[in-house]
Amino acid sequence: MSVLDAPSATIAALLADAAKIVVMTGAGMSAESGIPTFRGTRSGLWARFDPEQLATAGAFRKDEALVWGWYRWRTAMVEQAQPHAGHAAIVELAALRAGLVVVTQNVDDLHERAGSGDVVHLHGSLFAPRCIACGMPHPHERLPASTALDPAIRVVPPRCTHCGGSIRPGVVWFGESLPAPAWQRAEQVLQECEALLVVGTSGVVQPAASLPSLAKRRGKPVIEINPEAGGITPMADVSWRTTAADGLPQVVKLLSETR
Ligand code: OAD
Repeated sequence: MSVLDAPSATIAALLADAAKIVVMTGAGMSAESGIPTFRGTRSGLWARFDPEQLATAGAFRKDEALVWGWYRWRTAMVEQAQPHAGHAAIVELAALRAGLVVVTQNVDDLHERAGSGDVVHLHGSLFAPRCIACGMPHPHERLPASTALDPAIRVVPPRCTHCGGSIRPGVVWFGESLPAPAWQRAEQVLQECEALLVVGTSGVVQPAASLPSLAKRRGKPVIEINPEAGGITPMADVSWRTTAADGLPQVVKLLSETR
């Protein structure tokens, strides 16, 4: 493993021969759009809020309005945020390497809004609510731009038009399995990729954190972009200590210059 302080031809060289690139992203990818990460020491969501009260099926059954209100806050925050230069750089990278796939742990839609066409959501989406009883998808209604950003707001969830059950956020909660189609697709693209770019994840939440090893075991380069070391660092061929909005555009520039 080598750690770089500045962009280097090494990254471009590692990506240059790779026709199939996977970009795996975590909460740090959205941080510069103003969306908090989970494990930051002060501002991280799990430092400020108790996942036991907000991010389990049991918590939802206990207090639906508390949990739905908290996710409404997160949804409003995402809807009021904009993708940044790092999201745009991934779209540019896909123009250089057709077949690029984004595998994200994020439940926001910033990759899609930036223009990424092939995004696998391992942990579900804030924009795919469904009935907790029958599983029927429920349309997401965009929140007014003036929606106040209040994490403690209590909002009674809508009812399912099919069975009358409560509508729950379409995200993966603690104790739940990942959506099988997303997981299978992620495993497939990680088994086929020729280079992996891992951006903004602490690499500690399983099973997502195990995915990079599928590329590594086949001898494919693993490149990490993250201001801090984490669970992916030991297997990374290159770890670049920078942010997504700073590093990704430089990587794409380097690569386009070496075409
Ligand atoms: P974490 O909050 O665990 O980690 C965020 C990572 O982003 C850290 O490694 C930071 O160093 C890095 N980071 C912070 N700012 C950055 C920036 N501007 N650019 C690049 N990187 C930056 O988030 P995840 O690894 O995504 O699961 O967490 C994984 C899962 O844990 C989440 O999907 C969520 C959570 O519990 C569920 O909700 C199911």
